[in-house]
Amino acid sequence: MLPHYRLKLGDRLPVILRPLLPDDRTRIIDAFKRLSPESTYFRFWTRFHGVNPTFIDRLCAEDQGQHVSWIIVIENNDEVPGVGGGSFWRSGEEADLAEVSFTVADEFQGQGAGTLLLAALWEHARASGILRFVANILESNEVMLTWWTSLGAASVQHPHGREMTLVLDEAALPDTSAANRLQRWLAFLRSPPPDAQP
Ligand SMILES: CC(C)(COP(=O)(O)OP(=O)(O)OC[C@H]1O[C@@H](n2cnc3c(N)ncnc32)[C@H](O)[C@@H]1OP(=O)(O)O)[C@@H](O)C(=O)NCCC(=O)NCCS
Repeated sequence: MLPHYRLKLGDRLPVILRPLLPDDRTRIIDAFKRLSPESTYFRFWTRFHGVNPTFIDRLCAEDQGQHVSWIIVIENNDEVPGVGGGSFWRSGEEADLAEVSFTVADEFQGQGAGTLLLAALWEHARASGILRFVANILESNEVMLTWWTSLGAASVQHPHGREMTLVLDEAALPDTSAANRLQRWLAFLRSPPPDAQP
């Protein structure tokens, strides 16, 4: 079984960071229903009501080495389906490349959840032989563009947005607050304190 971590987000919110399980299907549907139109648009590039059931099936399917999802849930809280989640999907053409995506609930954005999810996906990807993450980002998604630029990701312009590529090499990270935060979470995941295991 993959590790679960108990930690405080933003030094105050008690959460569990763990891999997504097939049993999380209802939780994920509820979480996407609560997402604002803007966040939904940034994540899916389309304005829709309700999530495609096929997408949920693919997301919650057991890891076949091709895709992995991690989620953050609030500890002992059944009211809020989740703080956020992130996934990577390995490229069919290049085995050391994976496309990554994130969704953090609107009320929890800007509190470090995205960075923590990236750290979990980074560690999982490196252990699976993945060396680069690519993210497809809408041109209007300033938070994501600024965040990944601060991590040193390379950018290629496309008609509606940008494809940003992040090399999963800590030594290549720039000296920015976003990269420093990511490095702190990577260090935490590699050597969690004893009380971080639920
Ligand atoms: C993009 C997203 C995943 C980031 O998650 P998050 O939990 O807000 O990210 P973090 O709190 O870890 O912050 C990451 C960086 O973005 C910055 N940031 C986050 N929200 C911000 C906001 N609303 N305004 C300005 N900066 C913001 C943080 O300051 C941080 O940079 P820093 O370390 O230099 O300070 C989240 O905003 C989201 O889910 N957006 C909607 C869906 C989406 O765009 N998905 C990505 C598609 S690939």
